[in-house]
Amino acid sequence: MRYVSHNNSRTAATAFASGARPDRDGTPITTDSNQAREIDWFDQQRMLQDPYEDYARMRALGPVVHMSAIKRYLLTTHASVVGGEQHPELFTAHASKPTMVRALGARAMLRKDDPDHATERGSTNPTLRPKAVGEVWSRHFRETVARWLDHLEEIEPDRADLSRDFAAPVASQNLIDLVGFPTSVAVKDVRRWSTECIAGIGNVLDDADIWARCDRSQAEANAILDEIIPRLRVTPDTSVTSHLIKAGLPEESVRANVHLTVSGGMNEPQDMIRNMVWALSHHPEQLAMLRRGEAAWGDACEGTVRWVAPIGMIPRETTQDVD
Ligand code: HEM
Repeated sequence: MRYVSHNNSRTAATAFASGARPDRDGTPITTDSNQAREIDWFDQQRMLQDPYEDYARMRALGPVVHMSAIKRYLLTTHASVVGGEQHPELFTAHASKPTMVRALGARAMLRKDDPDHATERGSTNPTLRPKAVGEVWSRHFRETVARWLDHLEEIEPDRADLSRDFAAPVASQNLIDLVGFPTSVAVKDVRRWSTECIAGIGNVLDDADIWARCDRSQAEANAILDEIIPRLRVTPDTSVTSHLIKAGLPEESVRANVHLTVSGGMNEPQDMIRNMVWALSHHPEQLAMLRRGEAAWGDACEGTVRWVAPIGMIPRETTQDVD
């Protein structure tokens, strides 16, 4: 699902104009905006509970629908989303009034198009490449997993919570290590910063309480950055923050990209762990194959991420009338 806003009042009513571009299966990816069906049954609570039924209802209405509650057109099908993604000159990530810029304090890489996006993204690659993960981070990750498995075991089975007592702290500690925060930073704080920044990024309905919590989290994370940025300028290390500094980015971009990494690096690994435990508990024959070495754990992780998409919506803004 991709949602699209339009920054041009001239074309606001025709974000998806007639004369549609062919889709992979030969059907148009867009339609005349007059044909984009209106969603007037949006229910935020229901979407938060379980969005999949509503996604299916939207897809049944067509590849492009309009949702008045959030003033956005939504691309609802895989093919229409891929079509948009392949045309950044029409569907820009550089949104004009993105909630993400406010939530992260400045424009981070995710709201930029190439080449600016590639510069910032490329600077973090030395930390996140599989080789670096194997050589530098695996040892830390393994220690963290062992520590939190011990913690999980100490709790009585009927009181243990896989998310609270294992998946969240593991994801949070890995994130602390990857961004280069000091060991004094608590896993529960990074989890809260991540949750509240993400709520800000998604705050399209402009809820004042969400902004207050997001601003507080950003300020707390910035206080840590006040401490580590001067040190990393003198003594670089292998962290994401250090590589962002080394790339010569302005400090506000360094900070925004660290906040983005904290926001982006928490829920997805946490959800992936939970989903995989759930899936393998319900498919013991597949768990047995993994334990016997007949299937690879890496493939199981990848399969889980593909099976339950970690990110339900990403925004783009159209730059002109779109066919
Ligand atoms: C199972 C684990 C993960 C999954 C499935 C996942 C998925 C994704 C997806 C789908 C995007 C693209 C979002 C978009 O275009 O709007 C993304 C972007 C991003 N993720 Fe993750 N992610 C995971 C883990 C992480 C971790 C651990 C970190 C931090 C260390 C992280 C940091 C980021 C950042 C910084 C971006 C923006 C990249 C860019 O603009 O090029 N992610 N992730």
